[in-house]
Amino acid sequence: MTKIVVTGGRGMLGTDLALELRRAGFEPVPLDLPEFNLCDPEQLRRAVADADAVINCAAYTNVDKAESEPALAAAVNAAAPGELGRLAAAAGKYVLHISTDFVFDGSGDRPWRETDTPAPLSVYGATKLDGEHTLAASGCRHAVVRVQWTYGGNGNHFIKKLLERAKAGGDIKMVDDQVGAPTWTRDVSRALVKLLKGQTAGLYHYAAAGYASRLDVAAFVLRELGLERRLLPCQTADFPAPARRPLNSRFDCTALDTQLGPGFRRPWQEALREFIQ
Ligand SMILES: NC(=O)c1ccc[n+]([C@@H]2O[C@H](COP(=O)([O-])OP(=O)(O)OC[C@H]3O[C@@H](n4cnc5c(N)ncnc54)[C@H](OP(=O)(O)O)[C@@H]3O)[C@@H](O)[C@H]2O)c1
Repeated sequence: MTKIVVTGGRGMLGTDLALELRRAGFEPVPLDLPEFNLCDPEQLRRAVADADAVINCAAYTNVDKAESEPALAAAVNAAAPGELGRLAAAAGKYVLHISTDFVFDGSGDRPWRETDTPAPLSVYGATKLDGEHTLAASGCRHAVVRVQWTYGGNGNHFIKKLLERAKAGGDIKMVDDQVGAPTWTRDVSRALVKLLKGQTAGLYHYAAAGYASRLDVAAFVLRELGLERRLLPCQTADFPAPARRPLNSRFDCTALDTQLGPGFRRPWQEALREFIQ
């Protein structure tokens, strides 16, 4: 059986990925804080030595807090992937690394392609972009998969907060100027396992098919739950936060569709309906 280290293995994506790896016949080794620190070179060395390949889902993901903890965010998101890459290069091992739409500034309304120039708005986005670069500079065999608007069974995300607010009753204020595609980590995991099987190299965007504003998603969820709530459209600027967020998170996933073939992405509504049920 092939041993795959999943860093951040108890996070939202890591949890679903470990399950999917097992389903596909791999032996996942989930590693996470507190017993495993991606920034500890000796722990990382042992993890790489122990694995046939590494999927790096570990990240400093608190977007707002990163603004006041830039050094920690950079250590986890930027420096550690470089060290992981150097260790993997020396050992001839493959690395799959996860990145984000926050590398873009979210301008315009065209879906982002892998060839578009990143321009992060936040410390989180900048450190994640640096992590893509340090990994590439290491020379290891690798792929980077950028995801956006993910949700899953084991996480604190937009869909979960929306479900809680919908069940609590009352009107719901929701932004209508952020557009993307809610994307289930279970679906992401299936695509990651396929890339792993092929030890595919490159930079890829992954999102569920179709696009929606946060307001559209909220309306869909309320309809699915059969709940009558008044949705009040508002703008991102109405909710000042320490970190700026991209408004346009649309991904063009043509490169990944071409690489993997059909069946790895489905309409966001189909996946979200299944998740809610
Ligand atoms: N969620 C989204 O909407 C979204 C969107 C775009 C991209 N992404 C990317 O998707 C990937 C997976 O994130 P996720 O959504 O699964 O977030 P998550 O649930 O926060 O998972 C990240 C995991 O990494 C762990 N971690 C943090 N620092 C670490 C360290 N120094 N050593 C080892 N583990 C560490 C976290 O542990 P603690 O919880 O203890 O800190 C957590 O278990 C990340 O690369 C993220 O940037 C996520």
